[in-house]
Amino acid sequence: MEQGDEASRLGSQVSPVTANSAMTHVRTPICEQLGITHPIFGFSHATDVVVAIAEAGGFPVLGLARELPEEIPHIIEEVETRLAGKPYGIDLMLPSKVPQEASIDSLKSALPPGHVDFVEGLRQRFDVAPPVKPSFFTTQVRSEALFERQIEAVLGSRARGVATAIGLRAELIAEAKRRGKLTFSLVGSVRHARKALDMGVEVLVAQGYDAGGHTGPVGTLSLLPQIVAMAGNAPVLAAGGIATGAQVLGCLGMGAQGAWLGTLWMAARENHTPPALLARLMASGSEDTLITRAHSGKPCRVVRSDWIDAWNTPEAPVPLGMPLQQVLVGDVFASMHERDDARLIYEAAGQSVFGIQGPTTVAAQMTQLVDEMDAAWSRLHTWVN
Ligand SMILES: Cc1cc2nc3c(=O)[nH]c(=O)nc-3n(C[C@H](O)[C@H](O)[C@H](O)COP(=O)(O)O)c2cc1C
Repeated sequence: MEQGDEASRLGSQVSPVTANSAMTHVRTPICEQLGITHPIFGFSHATDVVVAIAEAGGFPVLGLARELPEEIPHIIEEVETRLAGKPYGIDLMLPSKVPQEASIDSLKSALPPGHVDFVEGLRQRFDVAPPVKPSFFTTQVRSEALFERQIEAVLGSRARGVATAIGLRAELIAEAKRRGKLTFSLVGSVRHARKALDMGVEVLVAQGYDAGGHTGPVGTLSLLPQIVAMAGNAPVLAAGGIATGAQVLGCLGMGAQGAWLGTLWMAARENHTPPALLARLMASGSEDTLITRAHSGKPCRVVRSDWIDAWNTPEAPVPLGMPLQQVLVGDVFASMHERDDARLIYEAAGQSVFGIQGPTTVAAQMTQLVDEMDAAWSRLHTWVN
């Protein structure tokens, strides 16, 4: 995609709002329920982004699936101090079929030699240095024992919302609700959504194929109406591929009570995105993202890099499952981020990457989204006879 074309397309959406058609404020029932100003939900792993989204009137959701378990209590404490009572949510990824307990070292011996050789070849070809700092990707394996620690921290927090992705845990949902938390589940199909509602989940996040991160095969535009139709009174949020206020308004028109965005915030200063990764995101269009199992073992939409492309060659083995693939390549992911390696660095990113035009701030992004909702509303208004 030509970046210039994209920029002018986005620019044309931010037309001034005429007085008689001005949309004063869109506040859906879930905004009232959560005490937020805008129907914008922002997923992020970065605490500064989370704080900034809350300050800008949205509902931030802090991803804790990649944090070292011993650091989680401090992260939560810091966020809650800085939020000073503003509502926020926490998100965990809880896949089933993971080992009860495991360490990277214990699982390394289970890696197929062909995969190990392939990755070793890539390490040499790309001159990948071992990472220096300990991180989730070099020290942790997704296991039931890890999830128990994460769940305990989340339940003990003052988070108003608890979201889960990939898997569902009945006990977590019941206990979170007992403690007055609103429960969210990211769903990629009607079947997943049915399961979540049956388990007592209160808010469905319809996350389409377009989304950054782990995602299913149905596009947001097709998924959302199906989830809205089956959700009954449960609020539905739209996720995946959303980067403009016009899209947010369109989703509200389709029955969503809000939009849940992830990729866009990586352009914000508060995300501290490594410079080479930000440059890649700025240069990338929707077609530069793809779904791969090479990151985690489960289908995950990422922005392409030489590392991701190397897994799409005929000589590449089929990626392992979760959590073994991360045992195989986690240190490389950590290394490319530590070194901000311009050739290799990638991240989960959605087709919404088209909305990343340059460095910005969360406050500016929120203003732009709201202005674009207004502009889309006035455009619609001019078409009403
Ligand atoms: C860098 C990144 C990391 C993500 N990590 C998680 C995660 O840990 N848990 C989760 O539920 N969703 C995760 N997601 C998905 C988001 O929650 C959200 O559904 C998605 O970003 C929406 O699509 P968009 O990226 O097009 O805005 C991640 C997304 C990105 C971009």
